[in-house]
Amino acid sequence: MSDVAIRGVDLVKHYEHGLVKALRGVSLSVAAGERIAITGPSGSGKTTLLHLIGALDVPTSGRVEIFGEDVAAVRDVNHLRGRTLGFVFQLHHLIPNLRLWENVALPAHPLGISRRERRARAVALLEAVGLGARVDFLPVKCSGGERQRAAVARALVNEPRILLADEPTGSVDRATGESILKLFEWATEERGVTSITITHNPEVAQRADRTLEIVDGLLRG
Ligand SMILES: Nc1ncnc2c1ncn2[C@@H]1O[C@H](COP(=O)(O)OP(=O)(O)OP(=O)(O)O)[C@@H](O)[C@H]1O
Ligand SMILES: [Mg+2]
Repeated sequence: MSDVAIRGVDLVKHYEHGLVKALRGVSLSVAAGERIAITGPSGSGKTTLLHLIGALDVPTSGRVEIFGEDVAAVRDVNHLRGRTLGFVFQLHHLIPNLRLWENVALPAHPLGISRRERRARAVALLEAVGLGARVDFLPVKCSGGERQRAAVARALVNEPRILLADEPTGSVDRATGESILKLFEWATEERGVTSITITHNPEVAQRADRTLEIVDGLLRG
């Protein structure tokens, strides 16, 4: 087992047939258990990089390895994603017609555990993010911050080894942001989870082991 959780090698990502050069050759190596913050101006390529690392998109060139495995060579990427990665999206992406607990439990569905166990896991996580009173609510009945917290709970439901989060504290108040960070820190400290968090908040970045800054599709420094 590799103790490098994530390796990106010369990652290039173009959109619009090369008109948009979102990433221009980014290489990075993240140790297992490490907590990384990614900062940088709007449009600099942060979300693009997170999507490549999370096997949600493919690079134009370059390669991503997760625990030593080349993502491009993995037969079942969905399985890898479901088992190893937890994702908090920049927009929460909750499914509108599912209750909060069902949203949180959704990634656990393919694992073949019972509905009862899935609900128990989801409820425990919703309680941990302060949403114990909202488990049966539909997302539309929740505030923006509550939805964001539910998205954090969903990212943790499969006990991922790698947590990828795009501005998880972007649309929440200070206290809620703090509870989200605490949850991430608990995951890294207690479970050895590797985390990569995009943030514009210097306080959040300060709590990481290391900060990577992306400017115009390249890592600075
Ligand atoms: N699907 C897409 N198609 C075309 N261009 C895209 C696409 N996704 C992103 N881009 C472009 O790629 C560049 C990098 O976008 P990205 O979303 O990675 O930025 P970001 O650093 O996450 O910005 P923000 O802080 O505003 O979220 C931007 O110029 C953006 O317009
Ligand atoms: Mg972004």
